[in-house]
Amino acid sequence: MDMNSVIDAIKSRRAIRNFEDKPVPDSAIQTLLEAATYAPSAINIQPWKFTIITNKAEMKRLSDMAKPSLIRALPDVGDEGLVGLKRRLSDPQFNIFYNAPLLIFVSGVKSLYAVYDCSMAAQNMMLAAYSLGIGSCWIGTAVHTANDPKVKADLGVPEDYEVHAAIIFGYPKGVPKAPLKRPAQVLKRID
Ligand SMILES: Cc1cc2nc3c(=O)[nH]c(=O)nc-3n(C[C@H](O)[C@H](O)[C@H](O)COP(=O)(O)O)c2cc1C
Repeated sequence: MDMNSVIDAIKSRRAIRNFEDKPVPDSAIQTLLEAATYAPSAINIQPWKFTIITNKAEMKRLSDMAKPSLIRALPDVGDEGLVGLKRRLSDPQFNIFYNAPLLIFVSGVKSLYAVYDCSMAAQNMMLAAYSLGIGSCWIGTAVHTANDPKVKADLGVPEDYEVHAAIIFGYPKGVPKAPLKRPAQVLKRID
């Protein structure tokens, strides 16, 4: 545990995929959203809007839609990670949102830097969640389907916005061991 709480949160936050059957209270959701809005953004455009889903049936519907298109989209190469992912996606029981009690999509108005701005907002939410004892995981596999025009409309995302991030939240049922974090590779230092 680091003495600096920001560094501690950065280092100790883990991708959480196993959750207690307990909702995230609205007050915590508000804290996450507020943390998101404090993210930096290019020319301070603050391009983000949020879709909040606590309905597990809706998450399962989105997961079931996402899986077949992901299997089609993923390349057929022998990479171990990809093979494992394809196998999981082919399992009818597998839910890409891991039955989390809360899912937040971050969408940005179509603009040059929105993807970076929304990613920073998403990271703020994940670190804020950690500080509240709430686990989170970025679900990249959700974004392609979320940008399907019909799904976008279901999510309340305006046509001139694009979904950039999907983050699940919930109280962790156990915290996984930290994966190996490689030291930073400095390509060059120019003093
Ligand atoms: C852009 C992005 C997409 C990700 N997509 C998924 C995903 O679809 N499913 C999943 O289980 N984890 C996903 N993750 C979580 C990563 O697997 C996780 O962050 C990584 O293994 C490192 O673990 P840590 O977050 O505990 O440090 C994603 C993370 C990022 C940043």
